[in-house]
Amino acid sequence: MTRIRLPVLIDVHVHLREPGLTHKEDFLSGTQAALAGGLTIVLDMPNTSPPTTTPEALQAKARLADMKAVSDVGFFVGASTEAGNGYIACAPHTAGLKVYVNETFGPLRIESLRALMHVFGKWPGPGPIAVHAEGVALAACLALAQLYDQRLHVCHVARAADIQLIARAKARGARVTCEVTPHHLFLTQEDLPRLGSLGEMRPRLGTPADRDVLWQHLDIIDCFATDHAPHTMEEKRSASPPPGVPGLETMLPLLLTAAREGRLTIDQIVERLHHNPARIFGIPLPPETWTEVDLDARYTIGDDPLRTRCGWTPFAGMPVTGRVTQVSLRGRIVFQDGEILAQPGTGRVLFNATEETASPRG
Ligand code: NCD
Ligand code: ZN
Repeated sequence: MTRIRLPVLIDVHVHLREPGLTHKEDFLSGTQAALAGGLTIVLDMPNTSPPTTTPEALQAKARLADMKAVSDVGFFVGASTEAGNGYIACAPHTAGLKVYVNETFGPLRIESLRALMHVFGKWPGPGPIAVHAEGVALAACLALAQLYDQRLHVCHVARAADIQLIARAKARGARVTCEVTPHHLFLTQEDLPRLGSLGEMRPRLGTPADRDVLWQHLDIIDCFATDHAPHTMEEKRSASPPPGVPGLETMLPLLLTAAREGRLTIDQIVERLHHNPARIFGIPLPPETWTEVDLDARYTIGDDPLRTRCGWTPFAGMPVTGRVTQVSLRGRIVFQDGEILAQPGTGRVLFNATEETASPRG
């Protein structure tokens, strides 16, 4: 048994589904899954119902999280053509602005060049603009970020060409960072016959060559992030399954297993789940907060009960070595040997998102 302590681990891309979609997940079940996965801070995405596109929606969401969450939670606000400029007033209270350029789950979508120019021209920061942009849309966002002097964070990079383009942008000095999900690092299209609609997500799973090129560009990957996107089994088995897979409880065991196999180091994991997320999104780190893992514990994913309300994982059946044994948040043990010990509301809301924001201007 080899136990080590990792510092505050952060997942910068999570869909906690509250308000409006709580049959899939809510602030309590989602943050319990985060703690069980060794993650003490998560950043929540805006494609809820209503979407997080105005100060009122952000504040209402933040107050729910404040009462229910057992990990710390920060929020992205979403750019939307329908909700006017409401998202701009949210800026000081958010991790960043999420812009959906490519098609995905939910109503938030910014497609036209005119609308993108508006968003890139108006976002005041300090958080970056985080984009779901693949292929040519990614090239457009890299260009817009430079033209409007914005910091760009590219969500869930999944294709060889995309990571190669980001590598080139970084080499040219662009202010761009990116994240890659465990499903794009550990699954490919070859798993689809087995997974069926449980392997459906955006971006879609890549080829084995895409996956290999992602691993070869580890130095370009700033963050690992789950894109935890729970949908119920019933929804996934329906005639039109929504894209998205859960990931909070499986990311760290998968990465620790890869570390054991010599594919990356523990330090490289910590850089991508602690140092880089905190720096990119200006996340305040809670004191006396750590995650203890047993590097030698072996088990099969799916054998343990899951905390996420959706109750399934696309990684079921995969053998892993590395288990989360204990988690401390601000000096209190909040998870130990499979048990959540934290009361709802133990987690804090980041960036003062529960506070009033000045009315949107212009
Ligand atoms: C996400 C969801 O279900 O909210 N689905 C997905 O396939 N990634 C949407 C998103 O992250 O864009
Ligand atoms: Zn997402």
